[in-house]
Amino acid sequence: MSTEISRPLFHLTPRRNWMNDPNGLVHDGALWHAFFQYNPHGPDWGNMSWGHATSTDLQHWEEHPVALSHSDGEQIYSGSVVAPSTEEPLVAFYTSAYSTGMQALSRAVSHDGGFSWVADPDNPVIDRGSTDFRDPKVIRYHGDDGDSRWILLAVEAVERRVLFFESRDLRTWAEVGSFGPIGPEGVVWECPDLLRLHVDGAPDDARWVLLLSTNAVGDHADPDGSSMHYLVGDFDGRAFTTDASELTRLDHGRDLYAGVTFDNAPDDRVIMLGWMSNWRYAHVVPSAPWRGAMSLPRTLSLRSIGPEVLLVQEPAYFMRAGLAGIEPIEITEASNRLALSGHSLVDLRWEPRLTGVLRIRMQGDADATVELTHDPRAGTLVLNRLGPASEAVHPDFAGASAAPLRQPWVGRLLLSLDGPLLEVFAGDGATTMSSLVVLGSGRIQVDVCSEHPGPLAVRSVDIEADE
Ligand code: FRU
Repeated sequence: MSTEISRPLFHLTPRRNWMNDPNGLVHDGALWHAFFQYNPHGPDWGNMSWGHATSTDLQHWEEHPVALSHSDGEQIYSGSVVAPSTEEPLVAFYTSAYSTGMQALSRAVSHDGGFSWVADPDNPVIDRGSTDFRDPKVIRYHGDDGDSRWILLAVEAVERRVLFFESRDLRTWAEVGSFGPIGPEGVVWECPDLLRLHVDGAPDDARWVLLLSTNAVGDHADPDGSSMHYLVGDFDGRAFTTDASELTRLDHGRDLYAGVTFDNAPDDRVIMLGWMSNWRYAHVVPSAPWRGAMSLPRTLSLRSIGPEVLLVQEPAYFMRAGLAGIEPIEITEASNRLALSGHSLVDLRWEPRLTGVLRIRMQGDADATVELTHDPRAGTLVLNRLGPASEAVHPDFAGASAAPLRQPWVGRLLLSLDGPLLEVFAGDGATTMSSLVVLGSGRIQVDVCSEHPGPLAVRSVDIEADE
């Protein structure tokens, strides 16, 4: 039995060492840049710096030297980058985590398209004398009066508050409002983002969506460890308001965290990358010489489903291209087996409306299986990590995660499996589950058992390694 984890082929991983949150996601007019929390010196969290990679297609990534490096007195925690215009330098805002235990926000500028950075001599640029003030995300805000300015949001993590600051020059910031606390106690709030999206694409129905990551502290807190959430509401440049009294879970797998969106994405798209791990066990995930991976890039939109407005995630760009032109095979037998490389996309569709349970079981050359159960009558999608190899990762790794099927009548399930990264999109992205899996390094057998009376159309494709 193999316990080796093969490196993802179409997701961003560092060549070596530890990676966590995506930072400074920006499109500079030509290239997609992803910076990320990175330890240049080892496989564990520490010496936090910003690693850097670029891509032309969000599928193939080229890693570059460390962009912002830690020093004796300061680690560089999460933050963001904006591209004000093609003529102006890129500007980064990051968390200065000082060895004194204080956290404040700093600024750096790049005159060479993001490859080298000059820290602002006036750093830190926002200092509240706090030990838990972090994760600045800068967005553009266009008021109804035509006035436009920059908004920086950052968390007071332990207070579970998001603070809003405004600026016209990306240098001086004035605090204008705050949001929170709301939702469960016993967690810290991290990595906020604020997006403007149109409900069902309607030009006259724009809403604001606050993204938040929450990480459990103490024993009584969120049993899932770290997870992502959102709120739909309004933002007037100062205050975020919402009718919701609770956070809504963004992804129901165990392994999507710290997701934020790209600044300046073409065609006004809102594209998110998240870190595919969980603080509960990230430090023992048995991959080498790298540890940590980003999710697929996901296009975010708002969809009205009954009386609710939900955030929907669909894989951006290449996944659709990867499957285009693949002839579907029709599954009419109750049970069928597909053999995949383990760097694969699978698209299952059915008509009419699925009435029976669909079970998908994955098995590789490790002593582990993954079972996915799509049950439209119960309205649930359950992902279960089973077997000794899953149990060996960490006591909290093996077991089931359940998600509500928000649109059980939509006959579509999309799976992306890339080494240890399994991402499931149900109901055209209304329900997602992102999970690390330890199926080994060889080919994967996928058994599809359907209780549905009609046929399933299944398309699958293995993504090839680059030459
Ligand atoms: C989220 C986080 C951030 C922090 C960074 C440190 O995963 O805890 O709040 O800036 O990671 O690596």
